[in-house]
Amino acid sequence: MTIKMTEVWKTFGEGHTAVDALRDIELIGPQGEFTVILGPSGSGKTTLLNLVGAIDDTSRGRIEVNGSDLAALDVDARTRFRRESVGFVFQFFNLIPTLTAVENVELVADLTHDDGAERAAAVLSEVGLADRGHHFPSQLSGGEQQRVAIARALVKQPPILLCDEPTGELDFETGRMILGLLQRISREHSQTVLLVTHNAAIGAMADRVLRLRSGEIVEDVRNENPIPATELVW
Ligand SMILES: Nc1ncnc2c1ncn2[C@@H]1O[C@H](COP(=O)(O)OP(=O)(O)OP(=O)(O)O)[C@@H](O)[C@H]1O
Ligand SMILES: [Mg+2]
Repeated sequence: MTIKMTEVWKTFGEGHTAVDALRDIELIGPQGEFTVILGPSGSGKTTLLNLVGAIDDTSRGRIEVNGSDLAALDVDARTRFRRESVGFVFQFFNLIPTLTAVENVELVADLTHDDGAERAAAVLSEVGLADRGHHFPSQLSGGEQQRVAIARALVKQPPILLCDEPTGELDFETGRMILGLLQRISREHSQTVLLVTHNAAIGAMADRVLRLRSGEIVEDVRNENPIPATELVW
């Protein structure tokens, strides 16, 4: 899916305490493009992902996904968009501790498919965790937990994947492995990816690198030769 943001503003609060988290964002993210978003803390990165994922609304401007205006969707269509078209991966995995790996994935798969259990098992094996399905999150390493979270995001085969610091809690080797997984799977499924990170080195794997500062896009660079994530160094 293609994401188009036109003159998008997001303001939190009112009057003298108002904060413009995003200012006049213009962005086209074509289908299948892998974009890395960099920027200091508070620059609006998470806010931008939340708007694209229809978790939050713009204050001004419009966001279109494949030509349809997110603000024009009724409540049901909006929920369907979030559920079927968007996969989220977060810094702190956000797994449900009382459910096993396969149940965490299945919980999402069940929402949209009758064959949830089978699909959950298949996608866990796609992220290399076929033999960990019945472990609880507390019995898994950080990298394994993040792979479960990625499996959960991917089980719906969403055309849009939004990742907020997905390697923030992981060591170098594990982080690189997770990025390699995201790169491979998003290419296979031609997903449009927005990946937020503080780590500028990760930009080398992306088709495009955006830099935010104080809610504005201050740099937008295309990368003709993205490197395999497995070759990243930082
Ligand atoms: N719900 C909210 N209410 C009020 N202000 C908010 C809210 N969410 C974000 N902000 C403000 O908007 C700005 C952008 O926040 P955002 O979370 O998008 O930053 P970020 O780039 O993701 O930062 P970090 O790297 O620390 O995660 C910040 O100034 C923040 O304080
Ligand atoms: Mg953030």
